[in-house]
Amino acid sequence: MTVVPASHFQHRHLLGIEGLSPPEITLLLDHAEACVEQNRRVDKKQSLLRGLTQINLFFEDSTRTRTSFELAGKRLGADVINMSVSTSAVKKGETLIDTAMTLNAMRPDVLVVRHGASGAVQLLAQKVDCAVINAGDGAHEHPTQALLDALTIRRRLGRLGGLVVAICGDILHSRVARSNICLLNAMGAQVRLIAPPTLIPSFVERLGVEVHHDMRSGLKDADIVMMLRLQLERMQGAFVPSTREYFHFYGLDYDKLSVAKPDALIMHPGPMNRGIEIDSEVADDIHRSVIREQVEMGVAVRMAVLEILTGRLRNDRGGE
Ligand code: CP
Repeated sequence: MTVVPASHFQHRHLLGIEGLSPPEITLLLDHAEACVEQNRRVDKKQSLLRGLTQINLFFEDSTRTRTSFELAGKRLGADVINMSVSTSAVKKGETLIDTAMTLNAMRPDVLVVRHGASGAVQLLAQKVDCAVINAGDGAHEHPTQALLDALTIRRRLGRLGGLVVAICGDILHSRVARSNICLLNAMGAQVRLIAPPTLIPSFVERLGVEVHHDMRSGLKDADIVMMLRLQLERMQGAFVPSTREYFHFYGLDYDKLSVAKPDALIMHPGPMNRGIEIDSEVADDIHRSVIREQVEMGVAVRMAVLEILTGRLRNDRGGE
């Protein structure tokens, strides 16, 4: 595969995995490796982004993504502002675009945006002068989640190509699933989706994946088992008869996991709903679950994205 110099990353924004080439994905992952090393040092701070301003604008709740973007910016030396939507003029009726234009007038260098509507971040990116990073838009994309998942897998198994990755749960409402499908397909993994028919999107045949409605057939010989929560906040009406029945058929427990590869890794983007999509013991299995590692990789991946989009690149040895 061709190695792309960082200066050849052609995108002004990171709005989705769709549109990134395999070499560009590899570049981001390679760059994130140096950030993992930085984050494991006692002194975690660099000044690569000194003088730059990053605004985090989250219209939806977040623990992992918002915190890790804040840490990422601060560890690289940027000035980071978290705009609290709940105490902003959005509550007085200001629109998304007016809010974006207002922030743009303060001359930020990066806007990190999460919004409940698919396409909202792309729309906003057309109105501002700075780089925009999609931190999750509706059921559309969550690109940094897919990148951190890929980094976690690649560090554990040494590759992405040729792996069988089973993504299980609420695919219909999941931006994580969409970004992961796009990235894993691009990198040569084989993706299986496992869900009840009500939670599979109608356009699934265009996604280049296998679809299973039964956990045992979908998990057979899988290398990676990626669990997703039921996104109740995006559901209007009932998509499953009850959470108890859902766990019986689709919740990951040791019995269902037994058909996957013996060393298959268990992943979950969080937040987890224990006892609904995943059994607590399985989630906490220190030999199989890489859920905490995913969180660690999230900071590194977001640092890499900030560096590459701002063009403030560390040298090959990982220093400034
Ligand atoms: N995985 C993820 O996006 O988590 P948060 O909603 O906590 O950011």
